[in-house]
Amino acid sequence: MNFDMYSKTGGPRRGRSFDSVNTCYEDKQLNYEMNKANFSKIEENKKLTSPRKGHAAILFSLKNEVGGLVKALKLFQESHYNIEARKRRNSEFEVFVDCDSDHQQLRDVIQLLQKHMNLADMDLKDNFSLPDDDMDGVPWFPKKISDLDQCSNRVLMYGSDLDADHPGFKDNVYRKRRKYFADLAMGYKHGESIPHVDFTAEEVQTWGVVYRELNKLYPTHACREYLKNLPLLSQHCGYREDNIPQLEDVSRFLRERTGFTIRPVAGYLSPRDFLAGLAFRVFHCTQYVRHRSDPLYTPEPDTCHELLGHVPLLAEPSFAQFSQELGLASLGASDDSVQKLATCYFFTVEFGLCKQEGRLRAYGAGLLSSISELKHALSGKANILPFDPDVTCKQECLITTFQDVYFLSGSFEEAKVKMREFAKTIKRPFTVRYNPYTQSVDVLKDMPSINSVVEELRHELDIVGDALQRLNQHMAV
Ligand SMILES: [Fe+2]
Repeated sequence: MNFDMYSKTGGPRRGRSFDSVNTCYEDKQLNYEMNKANFSKIEENKKLTSPRKGHAAILFSLKNEVGGLVKALKLFQESHYNIEARKRRNSEFEVFVDCDSDHQQLRDVIQLLQKHMNLADMDLKDNFSLPDDDMDGVPWFPKKISDLDQCSNRVLMYGSDLDADHPGFKDNVYRKRRKYFADLAMGYKHGESIPHVDFTAEEVQTWGVVYRELNKLYPTHACREYLKNLPLLSQHCGYREDNIPQLEDVSRFLRERTGFTIRPVAGYLSPRDFLAGLAFRVFHCTQYVRHRSDPLYTPEPDTCHELLGHVPLLAEPSFAQFSQELGLASLGASDDSVQKLATCYFFTVEFGLCKQEGRLRAYGAGLLSSISELKHALSGKANILPFDPDVTCKQECLITTFQDVYFLSGSFEEAKVKMREFAKTIKRPFTVRYNPYTQSVDVLKDMPSINSVVEELRHELDIVGDALQRLNQHMAV
């Protein structure tokens, strides 16, 4: 994935707002009623102010029953909630309600749901905690890896919903196929296996052209970490000209190498939601293949971009760490800070260059999956500046042309140190620390939470001390 949907002047360049596309009912009438209800509620929501308000999310499934969804929606008709409903693969409806409400209102709604609805299950997310004084105004962010279920489907456009200038716009077969991929991604939940896809001969052929042409350039254009990992992917995940690797195989491979996992996504996410995934070492990947009419061009990230551009570097520990730190810095940050981080992401993870053995090499996925721009960036004619987050975050991300400027890092380590310093300048009343045992983030905002980290560090230092002592004894023998 990348952020090439975004211009510096704000918002997606293509597509519509989240709320207008965030429903996928098969029933058109329900869709209409829901959108109508959503818009009025969102507008009214803006007017609501109450010091006792908190934020919560309810996720519930409805058993397949005639009129069940309509009945459930009626319960929320007078409430000021954002609602998203989708049909799951097992034909149950799943409804996600995002609330800014008070405890009593929420309790009433839950009671009504339990009393009147034929629920398959219900999950109250985020424990409906009232905001602390020092967390007030902090945007919601996932605290544990399964929370990504709440934001990974908030795509800005997806499925057969293509722009008029998309190469597949007039191809109904292609659009139907895109809807199939979108539905697979929208039905995905944390912990599930990524569905196996039987790619068509046409899709394999398109992939094959991209794979063959790019592989001609890699030895002279890709960074050494990329060149080290690509053969491993051929060996373990079926990277071949005549085979499109399965995301599940790739995800399993990455987990063993760096702890990263893949999560299928239906289309573009907002920078905030995409970066949030990185915080948990989750990379959102599209699974569809670009349109066959022009294998060397795609107006959006597709599986060729993800698999050939991103995956080889996600298998590199130092790069994985760099990516995760970008994600952690974004959690709970302001919109402005997230935009700056997203721009740094764009000019590193997507379009980054490095110098190895005195030669320019690419490590950005946008370059490593684009023949023409990869050649251009290393042609000696491109404008190249040293990577400096304070400067880079102000650079305009170009979408339909080559970048005006590329940023050069000595190494991922160097880029990581610079980003770490930059992250410290982001205004947040707390910091976060990733807990790999629970796959969650610890919010460090008071002495008890900081002390628990100190305790863990003390234990880690004990281990180091013990190891040094044993080493000394061994050397002395
Ligand atoms: Fe990307």
